[in-house]
Amino acid sequence: MSIQVGLGERQTFGQKIYVDSMEKSGPAKVDEISPFVKPGRILDICAGAGAVTAGLTARFPASEFVPIDFSGNMVERLKKRFSGTKNIDVVQADAVDFAYDKSFDTAIFVSALHEVYSGNGFDFSTVVQALHNVANNKNFKKGGRLIIRDGVMPEPETLFVEPLNYFAYNRFLKFINGFSAVKNVDFTFGKFNGNNFAVRNAPSFGEVERNNLLIKIGSQDTNEMLSKYHYAEENLPVELSEKFGIWTLNEYQKVLRMFGLKVVHAVSYLLPYLRDTHYSRDFKVYRLDNSGKLVPAPYPDSTMLLVGEK
Ligand SMILES: C[S@@+](CC[C@H](N)C(=O)[O-])C[C@H]1O[C@@H](n2cnc3c(N)ncnc32)[C@H](O)[C@@H]1O
Repeated sequence: MSIQVGLGERQTFGQKIYVDSMEKSGPAKVDEISPFVKPGRILDICAGAGAVTAGLTARFPASEFVPIDFSGNMVERLKKRFSGTKNIDVVQADAVDFAYDKSFDTAIFVSALHEVYSGNGFDFSTVVQALHNVANNKNFKKGGRLIIRDGVMPEPETLFVEPLNYFAYNRFLKFINGFSAVKNVDFTFGKFNGNNFAVRNAPSFGEVERNNLLIKIGSQDTNEMLSKYHYAEENLPVELSEKFGIWTLNEYQKVLRMFGLKVVHAVSYLLPYLRDTHYSRDFKVYRLDNSGKLVPAPYPDSTMLLVGEK
């Protein structure tokens, strides 16, 4: 078992921001996943500081909860938070090499699999192994549910992104730089002359403003950029070293089916707060229509919710 590995452990102030943001998003996550939870014994895998477990205990007071995390810091928080609570058993374990040894009805991975993937050298087999440890576990009850809520990769297409202010342009450049640890992003600055996209070197933001310069970039990289650019400066380096959308919704579904699970729910959506508080203030996104005309495009979906049934 590997314990307390880098990504879960931010610097002190960054860790506070990280935990606070999980706390803030906890109630919405709980609202979304609750309709799909099978009460009984519920594993919250990669539970962090327990925001989701805590919310679910209020909805399912007769259930037993097992929050699992590999981070020493998170496990300390979980133990403190749930001390004296009889129906909660905190476990320190790595999702990649841990198979629960008692029967269970529901296993959830919320904002979890992208961390498993990113923390293990962007190796898909570690995510598949973490899912296998649940889906093929003989203790997973028939009719039980595996619930995944995480980032999602859009289907590939070429987009044209327009930064609307200096902050957005600056963060775009920081994204390109920081994300290079994950992958080199293919993009070009340029401008449309009729139907022709004329490529040019990195402009100053003044030029971007004056000349309608756009950034030609793939939808999957656009999604990674949009889902990260707004993070607090303290946490930006860690967030940039992760990939949030590891598979498309279709690919995720295929993986669950590969394990013999029936997909009972699969949706992707853009979180309204991301659209309203960040994306719409900082970037516009365009694509080419069938006639080659530049037209506004929707922002990529930030999140997906997928439910498999055994
Ligand atoms: C973004 S947090 C999400 C926490 C919680 N699920 C929530 O939504 O509030 C991800 C958590 O996954 C944990 N984690 C990452 N990789 C892990 C692994 N391989 N095994 C167990 N925990 C892991 C991290 O320590 C971190 O606490």
